Amino acid sequence: MRRKGIFIVIEGLDGSGKTTQAAILAKRLFKTYNPLLTAEPSRGKIGTFIRECCLYEDKRLPTEAEALLFAADRIEHLQKEIKPALEAGRLVICDRYLYSSLAYQGSAGLSLDWIKVINSRALQPDFALFIDVAPEQVLERLQRKKSVMETLETQRKVREIYLRFVENGELLRVNGNNPKERVADELYAKVLELLKTIPGSVS
Ligand SMILES: Nc1ncnc2c1ncn2[C@@H]1O[C@H](COP(=O)(O)OP(=O)(O)O)[C@@H](O)[C@H]1O
Ligand SMILES: [Mg+2]
Repeated sequence: MRRKGIFIVIEGLDGSGKTTQAAILAKRLFKTYNPLLTAEPSRGKIGTFIRECCLYEDKRLPTEAEALLFAADRIEHLQKEIKPALEAGRLVICDRYLYSSLAYQGSAGLSLDWIKVINSRALQPDFALFIDVAPEQVLERLQRKKSVMETLETQRKVREIYLRFVENGELLRVNGNNPKERVADELYAKVLELLKTIPGSVS
């Protein structure tokens, strides 16, 4: 019997291919798992506010306030979208989650412990993957208007924090420097391996 839901998180720098890869993964898992593909900031009220106010220099709030908003959005996202899907037995793929808060607000100088405290009510994912791409390469890929979170120095700091969680085993690294299809194959293979470790999740 399948246990209730599976919660997968995809993390990485801006431009690392999270949205691209989350969509390919959802497609590949579609028949067996009917996945819910979702992202943070969410499309709820707080997530919409974050998109309007926190991503561009002229509108930014104090870093602590931003961290609290991201944590509040996460709670709303969990309550309205993620938990209902998991309770219905679905697999959820979330493009950015808790590790984005740790990496981005952490790189902006906040203590990782405090970010963990304000996120202590956030559900732990079953597994979290980090698509690792060189900071220079992500900036090359990003042709759209760069937000303040996308300078080279920021990207380097953010990646360093992500890598700490790779080292302690909380994030599983996927090499994102390769062409899309190759990254997708590696990601899919890793997810299938991980799914085997969850009793009842492989049909
Ligand atoms: N493996 C890849 N190689 C080259 N370009 C890529 C790769 N993956 C994604 N891209 C391109 O990089 C840009 C950012 O990808 P996206 O999936 O939106 O990243 P993210 O969601 O992590 O910001 C897009 O233009 C996308 O087509
Ligand atoms: Mg994206």
